[in-house]
Amino acid sequence: MSWLRVLSGDKRPRAQAPASQLLLILVAASAVAATAYASPAQDYMLYCMGCHGAQAEGVPGKVPPLAHALGRYMRTPAGRNYVLRVPGAANSVLSDEQLAAVLNWLAQSFDADELSSAVPLFSAAEVTRLRHSPLASVLAARSAVVRDLATTGTAPPASY
Ligand code: HEC
Repeated sequence: MSWLRVLSGDKRPRAQAPASQLLLILVAASAVAATAYASPAQDYMLYCMGCHGAQAEGVPGKVPPLAHALGRYMRTPAGRNYVLRVPGAANSVLSDEQLAAVLNWLAQSFDADELSSAVPLFSAAEVTRLRHSPLASVLAARSAVVRDLATTGTAPPASY
């Protein structure tokens, strides 16, 4: 009977070899992926995008956009201070280096017009210095910063 032949011993080793080779390749590939340093784009995807959106566009009424906003915050010390202490960024599992890299990648990818030699990127040292003091009131800090930025040029949206 044909089903007996299918289950017969002499067929099985040939049928199993490709599967076990594939398994080995998968195990090796995932080991390489786990040890490779994640890129800022990957970190954004894993730790920020769920709230801030694929194009950093935010969610109306809930999450502010980072596109056409982040570089504006980076213009002033108070803006930089706010960005590095906002809970979603400061409390993320990202290291100081990774958080600086994600924020810089975001600004360069979605708010490049705002960046210039007068607007420096974030350094890991700046993140280390600021991220550990929680904001007493996030929204009060945000409004003060946005209001101040509006007096000296383009500002992030006052409400979102
Ligand atoms: C759970 C949802 C959530 C996640 C995840 C999240 N954020 Fe946010 N983020 C917010 C909200 C909501 C605000 C508005 C301020 C507040 O209420 O905390 C905000 C504000 C910000 C701001 C300031 C922008 C503004 O206009 O106020 C920055 C910068 C920021 N987040 C960066 C990040 C980064 C970088 C990550 C990933 C490491 C991240 N966020 C992850 C929800 C999130």
